[in-house]
Amino acid sequence: SGKQGFALAAAAADLGARVTLVTGPVTLADPPGVTTVRVESADEMLAAVTGLLPADIGIFAAAVADWRVARSADEKIKKDPKAGVPRLDLVENPDILKTIAHLKPGRRPALIIGFAAETENVIEHAKRKRKSKGCDWIVANDVSPETGVMGGDRNTVHVITASGVDSWPELNKDSVAERLIAAAAEEIGRLTDKA
Ligand code: C5P
Repeated sequence: SGKQGFALAAAAADLGARVTLVTGPVTLADPPGVTTVRVESADEMLAAVTGLLPADIGIFAAAVADWRVARSADEKIKKDPKAGVPRLDLVENPDILKTIAHLKPGRRPALIIGFAAETENVIEHAKRKRKSKGCDWIVANDVSPETGVMGGDRNTVHVITASGVDSWPELNKDSVAERLIAAAAEEIGRLTDKA
């Protein structure tokens, strides 16, 4: 739905950050105080995000499809009894989070936060995902249909960092956003102090 990502952008702007929100096609209105860039595809999203660097913090909350159709038709595909059912070939989309997280220091945002939507073994899968994506934090949520997280207003998350797992109570997505942005602001303060 984009609700969690939009809430994060709004919360960061409220805290005084300069925020650009890159979003796919969702029905939500631009949050006030945020520059919103609307894209249609994963390739466009990667190009938009790359064009915004350098940035202190990158948060990747978009549910990007792993695959896209290899060729899209310009016209309606007509039924053809001789050709039968058309084949749908897929090609891989770029992994935006992984690409940005593997940029060299300086170009790479100092704090990169990814999301992991899981339906089982949420924490284990998310810990593995933090490593494979190369991000600093992963916010894991259980999106099994019975949780109502997808498209809903509430979320129960586990924040996974290099030092462990912090499990938060069920909160509305605005509160998840406020807490996460407060934690990110603290962390970027620590990281920049060290630098
Ligand atoms: O691999 P999976 O989709 O489970 O990983 C989720 C995380 O990766 C999210 O932060 C999502 O925004 C990001 N992602 C991405 N590009 C993709 C697929 C996922 O940036 N093509």
